[in-house]
Amino acid sequence: METEQKDRQQIAIIGGTGDQGKGLALRWAVAGYEIFLGSRDPERGRASADSMRSLLPSGTKGTIDGGGNAEAAARARLVVLAVPFAAQAPTLREIRDSLQPGTLLLDVTVPLEPAVGGRPTRVLGVWAGSAAEQSAELVPEGVAVVSAFQNVSAKVLADLTHTVECDILVCGDAKAHREQVRPLVESIPGCRYLDGGVLANSRIVEAWTALLIGLNIRYKTHAGIRITGIE
Ligand SMILES: NC(=O)c1ccc[n+]([C@@H]2O[C@H](COP(=O)([O-])OP(=O)(O)OC[C@H]3O[C@@H](n4cnc5c(N)ncnc54)[C@H](OP(=O)(O)O)[C@@H]3O)[C@@H](O)[C@H]2O)c1
Repeated sequence: METEQKDRQQIAIIGGTGDQGKGLALRWAVAGYEIFLGSRDPERGRASADSMRSLLPSGTKGTIDGGGNAEAAARARLVVLAVPFAAQAPTLREIRDSLQPGTLLLDVTVPLEPAVGGRPTRVLGVWAGSAAEQSAELVPEGVAVVSAFQNVSAKVLADLTHTVECDILVCGDAKAHREQVRPLVESIPGCRYLDGGVLANSRIVEAWTALLIGLNIRYKTHAGIRITGIE
């Protein structure tokens, strides 16, 4: 039991009190990961973790704890960034000194127009190319950035009674870093890992989210994506 505990990978989620962070936390805790939810307010992080734990099915091996964003960034080597685009750069500046060399930052941020008062069915132009590439410019040396999970709905993640029917495009400049995310994808029933290539391809993947939000509005659903022709 002790060995099992030690071998469990820790995942910190910055902005883990939000919808997407909580959905991922639930799924990964059920899969056996140790999750730490970060918040600007450590007390909110702890309270969020407390209420999330009550949602875990009995027998769940994974754990959910919470606290401040900086504490979250410091305690895991896999750190997920799950904040609205308007908060992305300020949050990275806040946690920058806490990120340890060798950390992989998994960015789920989508630069949607509501960040500047616009529509959720549109993406913003980002000077760096995409939200993920903007993160890559802001992390300290020794921290790598990959992006994934932009096309999966928080509502679908949170509903543990259903599988998550969605392909997850993982983008990053090193294949080894993309592959680090594979177990996280494959631990969620119904999710399929797809190697999305370089980080710049996040420009396409992030834009799909705006398209999916439009589909959700028109079809009153929570759409995901499936790519055909890949076994
Ligand atoms: N929701 C979805 O279905 C979905 C799907 C795919 C991708 N995404 C992307 O995932 C990211 C997170 O989405 P979400 O729906 O979880 O967002 P959210 O619930 O609006 O916010 C997530 C967390 O970010 C922190 N935050 C909010 N505003 C902030 C600000 N101005 N400055 C600093 N921190 C702030 C808050 O945590 P504290 O107040 O506790 O610090 C909040 O709980 C977004 O970029 C979104 O586009 C979302």
